[in-house]
Amino acid sequence: MIKLIEKLPKAELHLHIEGSLEPELMFELAKRNNIKIPYKNIEDVKNAYNFTNLQSFLDIYYAGANVLITKQDFYDLTWAYILKCVENNIIHTEIFFDPQTHTQRGIAFETIISGIVEALKDAKEKFGITTAIIMCFLRHLSQDDALKTLEEALAYKKYILGVGLDSSEIGNPPSKFEQVFKKAKEQGFRLVAHAGEEGDVSYIFEALDLLDIQRIDHGVQSIKSDSLMKRLKKEQIPLTVCPNSNIELKVFENYAQHNIKELLDYGLNVTINSDDPAYFKGYLNQNFINLYENLDLSKDDIIQLVKNSFNSSFISEDLKKEYIKRVEEIVK
Ligand code: HPA
Ligand code: ZN
Repeated sequence: MIKLIEKLPKAELHLHIEGSLEPELMFELAKRNNIKIPYKNIEDVKNAYNFTNLQSFLDIYYAGANVLITKQDFYDLTWAYILKCVENNIIHTEIFFDPQTHTQRGIAFETIISGIVEALKDAKEKFGITTAIIMCFLRHLSQDDALKTLEEALAYKKYILGVGLDSSEIGNPPSKFEQVFKKAKEQGFRLVAHAGEEGDVSYIFEALDLLDIQRIDHGVQSIKSDSLMKRLKKEQIPLTVCPNSNIELKVFENYAQHNIKELLDYGLNVTINSDDPAYFKGYLNQNFINLYENLDLSKDDIIQLVKNSFNSSFISEDLKKEYIKRVEEIVK
């Protein structure tokens, strides 16, 4: 089965590009840009990746992003992830970036987006990988800050397919961002939001009803509401589930306790994703393998999860068909 997992072409729909910054590249960029980081060596970094909840991770994740300064840095970061896509057989990826993490430090929006875009262009040319960019608002900051970020992003609209919402969930409900999502929708952006990672089901209801999102990032708390489960099933609203992340951030105690198999068996449209793979011990295939080894996932479950990833993506119906045909060719 592990061979099959590796061979299957896959889509990734929940990946923070800043979360793909490996310690080796962090050191290289710190040196290149003369930035101090609070680690002596790579071993030291890895020891620091010992999280107790979402916030304990975010503190370290934002500190890591401080080494990203130039367009070349954003290119190198993105390119390193693209090479992981090749290794993991990811043929389509929709990546998140957090502009406010960088603009707050005085990095220009142009610098960030142009480095990412150039690497994604090369990914298409060299490997045929298709991509999209989703800009996330940091929910611990104000809606006004998000509105300013949206305004700034309009100059780069052709590169940005959608907007999302990430960072500290509890205490920062979707209702805080109703206006900015309404504006983003008017501008034609696709809409997604992190909801129900640590937050209760009210965060998921708000994301659906107030922000009008098309995909729920995480959403694993849905299981606590029958009416929500029924609605998610009926409307086939995708959940971008991130197993390694959920274990590392203690949303579930271990892989055997993860509820993805229950969500799948109930008939929800769930997908598997890596979230912040440099921080959560592995890229996409490792997420599949960890679930396979600890839950009763069948071959059909794995194929379903992979097909869901293409069907839940923002690509055209024709491209979905083409990609799913490539999946079927592997499994026949
Ligand atoms: N949740 C919220 N914010 C994030 C995450 C996450 O899993 N990863 C990066 N930013
Ligand atoms: Zn995430």
